[in-house]
Amino acid sequence: MKQYIKALLGPNGIRFCLQMVDKIRLTWLRVAYKSAFLSRLHYLLISPSFTREAQAVIAGHIRFEENRKNHESVNYFLRRSIHRLEKGLIMRPRREVFAADYIEDAVASFITGRDNLNQQEADWANDVFTEYFSVTGRNPAIDKARDHFQQFRQSSGPDGGSPGMGGNIPYVRALGEPPPVDHDAFRALSVRRRSVRWFQQKPVPRELVDQAIETAALAPSACNRQPFEYRLFDDPALIAPLLELPMGIKGYEDNVPAVAVLVGKLRAYPHPRDRHVIYIDASLSAMSFMYALETLGLSSCPINWPDVPQRERRMKELLGLALDERPIMLVAYGYPDPDGMVPKSTKIPLAEIRSYNRVNSA
Ligand SMILES: Cc1cc2nc3c(=O)[nH]c(=O)nc-3n(C[C@H](O)[C@H](O)[C@H](O)COP(=O)(O)O)c2cc1C
Repeated sequence: MKQYIKALLGPNGIRFCLQMVDKIRLTWLRVAYKSAFLSRLHYLLISPSFTREAQAVIAGHIRFEENRKNHESVNYFLRRSIHRLEKGLIMRPRREVFAADYIEDAVASFITGRDNLNQQEADWANDVFTEYFSVTGRNPAIDKARDHFQQFRQSSGPDGGSPGMGGNIPYVRALGEPPPVDHDAFRALSVRRRSVRWFQQKPVPRELVDQAIETAALAPSACNRQPFEYRLFDDPALIAPLLELPMGIKGYEDNVPAVAVLVGKLRAYPHPRDRHVIYIDASLSAMSFMYALETLGLSSCPINWPDVPQRERRMKELLGLALDERPIMLVAYGYPDPDGMVPKSTKIPLAEIRSYNRVNSA
């Protein structure tokens, strides 16, 4: 005891004190992690780390219910429903009756908000519904939805509610030709792309960035919901306060000519079980974005978004984020400075990151 008091009052008293606090914290965590209840208690009483996420997930659920009534140009319930119909349409063998449990809701959701939907989504929905109703058999729910859809088409004027051109239904890919990019070319692109932190101080043409984003939008996403947005900043006055927030950009923040903030939208889901999908989907798209930039002569650097309450609050203020919207990551981009160095960033060898049929014993 005496030695503790001595250390506490000594010249390194504060450091000693911090070490003790850390020891106690670790001891508590060693106990807590073995019990789901204690882990929960930890985040309830001691650490606020998950508070903002919990609030965002609930806000997402509420926004999902509003969104499916179609007050926005993207309707996530509809997107998922159309995606499910597409999967039903490509089934082998295709069932005569499918989607009976949600088709009425899907048609209703489409019709009530048709005017707000973006044209691409409306065409896609229109085409897939049309195909679905032309191939499915008799069933009370399907018949009701079919009538509802047909009435809507008839009452929407001569163009039938501006249907798509029928080009949005499942199809067989033309696989006669070899892939347009061979593996050597793709590998060369992958080797060439590095995280670049030194950029030329010249504007980045927005048309090029739009091209890259349109390519990035082709990335897969769970149920094709694409629950994210690219918020782009190329105005130095807006970039400066933004780049004060991430922690990993110190030293080169003044050099970044443009930055994308990927923002995930939890309103795409009614269930907490899907809360991680925004990160997965946005990251898959971000990777395509960075490759696409590289093909256009631009370079990029992903920037980590730390889930720290004060930083989240500030980002929310700067971008005017809704409660269900969460920053996923940032991507700095621009023309690379030809004299700027990049780390070699040696990768983990194949044998360490790949295994087949491996089952660890418990
Ligand atoms: C999710 C994520 C977060 C990252 N955050 C940062 C960051 O905050 N600052 C930074 O300089 N680089 C950041 N990077 C870049 C990595 O340091 C880089 O990808 C890694 O060192 C490998 O280098 P390479 O991209 O050139 O292959 C991040 C990368 C990813 C994927």
